[in-house]
Amino acid sequence: MSRFSEPQHPVFQQLNASIGFDWRLGPYDVDLSRAHAKMLAAQGIIGQDDRDALLRALDSVEQELQDGSFPFEPDDEDIHMAIERRITQLAGRVGGKLHTARSRNDQVATDMALFTRAHAQAAQEAIRGLMRALVATAERHLDWRMPGYTHLQRAQPVYLSHHLLAYVWMLARDLEKFAAVEQATARLPLGAGALAGVNFDTDRQLVARELGFAGVAENSIDAVSNRDFVLDYLAAAATCGTHLSRLGAEIVLWSSSEFAFAEVSDAWASGSSIMPQKKNPDAAELLRAKAPRIAGHFVALQGTMHALPLTYNKDMQEDKEHLFDAVDTLELCLAAAAGMIEGIAFDRERMAEAASDEFPAATDVADLLVRRGMPFRECHGVVAGLVKQAVDSGRTLTELTLTEIREQSELLDGEYYEVLRGERWLESKDSEGGTSLRRVREQLDRARALLG
Ligand code: ARG
Repeated sequence: MSRFSEPQHPVFQQLNASIGFDWRLGPYDVDLSRAHAKMLAAQGIIGQDDRDALLRALDSVEQELQDGSFPFEPDDEDIHMAIERRITQLAGRVGGKLHTARSRNDQVATDMALFTRAHAQAAQEAIRGLMRALVATAERHLDWRMPGYTHLQRAQPVYLSHHLLAYVWMLARDLEKFAAVEQATARLPLGAGALAGVNFDTDRQLVARELGFAGVAENSIDAVSNRDFVLDYLAAAATCGTHLSRLGAEIVLWSSSEFAFAEVSDAWASGSSIMPQKKNPDAAELLRAKAPRIAGHFVALQGTMHALPLTYNKDMQEDKEHLFDAVDTLELCLAAAAGMIEGIAFDRERMAEAASDEFPAATDVADLLVRRGMPFRECHGVVAGLVKQAVDSGRTLTELTLTEIREQSELLDGEYYEVLRGERWLESKDSEGGTSLRRVREQLDRARALLG
């Protein structure tokens, strides 16, 4: 029997069904059902024979899902109903006992928590892979000079290793975020039933232990309404994607003939269909482009959840495609970034030449005046005057005469020419976290320690 007197409209079915994407929850749904069946038997809610029959059928379903032989049917609305239907086909009437003391509402929340936890862990693994690639590349280019930029204008020279390690520390923050996502999945929703709890003496702690949850969700209403952990994953992934997009964008710039600092290996580049000379850094371009897609998923799900009355609403079925696409996109981008970095080649001469531009040493001249007692703000003005004089007369700072520089400030003498010598600019930045080799080596040690 059914309370409905006409079949579902095919267009409604199409709108309503989630089987086209939530099949990915299959393995988690099987694990969940195993734990649930064991708990039902342990509490005497079903018999031991029932449990054994259910577990046998669940093993078969797991196998079928793995090898692709699971027989999906046109009427399967979602993975939960498909699996229950299949269990009943395999085990007979006892299959109908599996749904005792549970609802699809606590079931789907639990599957989603399991999926999110697994992929928060996978993200951390992939992030570590990229961090290792960056650390190894930094080690190989420890003392290679390059310009550091602000406003994409040459600002101050740095070591390439220092620049690459900047990404390592961004990714270290991403690791912390994904560890927090794992924490956000730590409380078991199952046992909340549809929303109010269930009419049986269940043991939620047992199910939590079986499924690796640290504890149970305290409130059944919150348990089935909660998708915070999905939003947390999407937020963490959006930030991580943003980091990858900045890395990608820099590699695109560095690969241009104008910069010519770097060249990605052939395995990470494409040619042009019409211009035989072209080698395009497509992987880097796509890293740049994928980030807003992940951020879009966060914004979209935030929009779905905001102002949504408690408890479960079908709106929440939308969590899946946003999460699944974000997971796929992020995991692909992290793997691609690591592979691309491992094979990248830098042009030592080009970078050193760009870093030898003298104007970036203007700060060093200002600091010389500071050491001679002038307040920094005034030094800034003096050096700006020197820069203007050099630029206006088409000369470098070193080409200004002693008389000219002393006209700007009496405090300047021959040491002015000393601080403008290229070698000093980087090694004098010896403050903690700075670009001097000693400080970069410290960073490398800490990064290696973090990666174990
Ligand atoms: N496919 C549904 C989802 O993903 C499962 C939960 C359905 N629950 C319900 N009360 N209709 O959200």
